[in-house]
Amino acid sequence: MTNDKKNNHAKLILPEGKIVTLPIIEGTIGPKVLDISSLYKEVGMFTFDPGFTSTGSCRSKITYIDGDKGILLHRGYNIEYLASEKSFLETAYLLLYGNLPDEKNKSEFVNAITTHTMLNEQISNFYKGFRDNAHPMAILCGVVGAMSAFYHDSTNINNKEERRIASYRLIAKMPTIAAMAYKFSIGQPFVYPNNKLKYSENFLNMLFSVPAEEYEFNQVFSDALDKILILHADHEQNASTSTVRLAGSSGANPFACISAGIASLWGPSHGGANEAVIRMLHKIDDVKHIKKYIDKAKDKEDPFRLMGFGHRVYKNYDPRAKVLQKIAEDVLKQEHKLENKLFDLAKELESIALNDEYFVEKKLYPNVDFYSGIILKAMGIPISLFTVIFAVARTVGWISHWNEMVEDKKNKIGRPRQLYIGEKPRN
Ligand code: ACO
Repeated sequence: MTNDKKNNHAKLILPEGKIVTLPIIEGTIGPKVLDISSLYKEVGMFTFDPGFTSTGSCRSKITYIDGDKGILLHRGYNIEYLASEKSFLETAYLLLYGNLPDEKNKSEFVNAITTHTMLNEQISNFYKGFRDNAHPMAILCGVVGAMSAFYHDSTNINNKEERRIASYRLIAKMPTIAAMAYKFSIGQPFVYPNNKLKYSENFLNMLFSVPAEEYEFNQVFSDALDKILILHADHEQNASTSTVRLAGSSGANPFACISAGIASLWGPSHGGANEAVIRMLHKIDDVKHIKKYIDKAKDKEDPFRLMGFGHRVYKNYDPRAKVLQKIAEDVLKQEHKLENKLFDLAKELESIALNDEYFVEKKLYPNVDFYSGIILKAMGIPISLFTVIFAVARTVGWISHWNEMVEDKKNKIGRPRQLYIGEKPRN
């Protein structure tokens, strides 16, 4: 492949000598992109890129990641700035609309989200159909998908106002659905949303209050939860966001698409890793066992991986993990002895791994999941809800990407091809 600088084209020379000219396109920042969309038409060949390690699937204005430098920007704003200065709902507005809200927009948006928090009462019947030991992520997939059977007035994807209402409903109702999944699993009555409370306070109230007594708020916890939601709100074209886009590219309604995203997030290589980190730390149990587990992670014959370490895009410290380490310190000042032990263990594990040749050479650093579980656990949130919290936050990113895709006039149904390695025709 040669690069024709003058015309910003690359030339691909095929084995039989045919030359194909491919345009090189540029975004506002980030690496240049080779446009291969006409390749099959021109030469009858596909590209092969399992796991999409070198493939851009869309144009997007929402989030930018520089994985080598460890930079994450939402609509141009640094994640560290958003996490320290803005609320989750301000970040949600930014992701949805492209700019931070002024005071008027903020109060209208917060008011709109706050007044969409209740669910159609019949939805509560779904919960009774689940086994009491159902994983809350299983319930979340089902109930969010079922929203399309209730909110018919916001499923016409070609209507901008319906898309807006569906987006607000999803952002507003996710904490309610998530909290109900938890309450069902522990046999407690559902707690209705309280519109006097802020987004994260309301979420904690629905999770932990009971009708018999008043719930005492811990400001450090609700601030920490709000920041955790900001840090998980979006992350460009990750597996679950790409799933939402792919599902939506066929014209499916937003509730069905977000349900697909939840399913994708559930896996341990993606959003399920925060749960896996805590289980791993419990298994390691003591600083003196760290070496054994580091050796296991390095052993090619052993399937064990250091959970919360490594990332497809970050080849540097995940900036979200740094913010989370600081939040963990604030939350753990509140005397949670067990989690303090886990935190100390995690910090020691991080320091040993970051000085180990294997992790240095492969550029494996802590990712967002490494510290988030410790914080959530210290706040009293059970392990099975960790990925649910992630899903509540990521709903904002998913729905922003879904809107961007639907509004893109060039949007086509997503349809990757394959390298067929099965049987040739046979009788
Ligand atoms: N522990 C040990 N070795 C690792 C780890 C790890 N956590 N992560 C990657 N490696 C090694 C791989 O064995 C591979 O080695 P090789 O080149 O010798 O074969 C190399 O590093 C590259 O790993 P890949 O799996 O090819 O990298 P990929 O980009 O496909 O995977 C992933 C990224 C899935 C995140 C991976 O690092 C991993 O499994 N991490 C643990 C799970 C985790 O924390 N997931 C959360 C990700 S963040 C998020 O989704 C919110």
